[in-house]
Amino acid sequence: MPRNLIVCLSALATIASVVAQRPANISICDYYTTALLTDDTAANQYTLLTLLVNTAVIGKYTEPSNGVLVPGILNPNGVYNDTAVNLLPYFNGCDISTNNGTVFNLITNPPISQNFLDGGGAVPLMHNLPANDTTSNQYFLLTHLYQYFGVLLGCSKYNTAGFPAYGGVGSMYRVHQYMALDPDEIGYFITQVGLSAASFGVASSDINAVANALFSLFSYKCSPPFTVVPAQGK
Ligand SMILES: *[C@@H]1O[C@H](CO)[C@@H](O)[C@H](O)[C@H]1NC(C)=O
Ligand SMILES: *[C@@H]1O[C@H](CO)[C@@H](O)[C@H](O)[C@H]1NC(C)=O
Ligand SMILES: *[C@@H]1O[C@H](CO)[C@@H](O)[C@H](O)[C@H]1NC(C)=O
Ligand SMILES: *[C@@H]1O[C@H](CO)[C@@H](O)[C@H](O)[C@H]1NC(C)=O
Repeated sequence: MPRNLIVCLSALATIASVVAQRPANISICDYYTTALLTDDTAANQYTLLTLLVNTAVIGKYTEPSNGVLVPGILNPNGVYNDTAVNLLPYFNGCDISTNNGTVFNLITNPPISQNFLDGGGAVPLMHNLPANDTTSNQYFLLTHLYQYFGVLLGCSKYNTAGFPAYGGVGSMYRVHQYMALDPDEIGYFITQVGLSAASFGVASSDINAVANALFSLFSYKCSPPFTVVPAQGK
């Protein structure tokens, strides 16, 4: 078992005690890193993002549980607003929905089908890893999610040793333009992120703030380009 997983699991025993109100001058990332993992280091912030993202993707895999169920983004039997949702085909290479590189031209660089579960699928995620290697599509997708959410949640140690900077495309519209996500699919995705956070004791006021940010980033194709990750541009 990786060392930091053991550290995490013992620290997570404190889940139930994360109830106090987060001070306005401490970011969501810093606050919950301290609450769950004690020391607000870059490595612990990255571990927090790993726990949050992996749990949102595959469902709850850590103990203890505070009773919040997380079905997971990869669950083929998702439900949002009484509508069945299955995001799995976007990830397992069944849909032709992925940008080919960073050139966005339907004629010269049409979307491709890509397997994002080529790094061992759920098993490494359950060990708090992004993938079973560092070269798979899965590795790049998961680490980009840790980094992107790290910026969104205000991690103070982002882009320092232990918390690598975002290496992906800045615009979420660009990244997802070929997926044609419908409102239920977007709603399901964001709900899984929120449930994952709730399963670690994140307060609903903080979850709502993040969910609102995600809705505005993912839902409006015609909204002006908005820079979440400054160095990556729009
Ligand atoms: C946040 O504000 C409190 C006072 O309200 C102050 O004691 C604390 O040092 C501040 N923390 C940071 C990280 O600025
Ligand atoms: C749920 O679906 C109903 C009917 O299709 C729609 O009017 C409503 O806006 C949806 N709610 C959410 C939160 O997406
Ligand atoms: C992606 O685009 C490059 C050219 O930019 C092309 O050579 C390559 O075959 C494309 N990949 C797929 C899977 O179509
Ligand atoms: C990682 O998992 C994939 C299946 O998703 C497998 O083909 C590959 O051999 C594994 N790599 C390592 C290094 O275990």
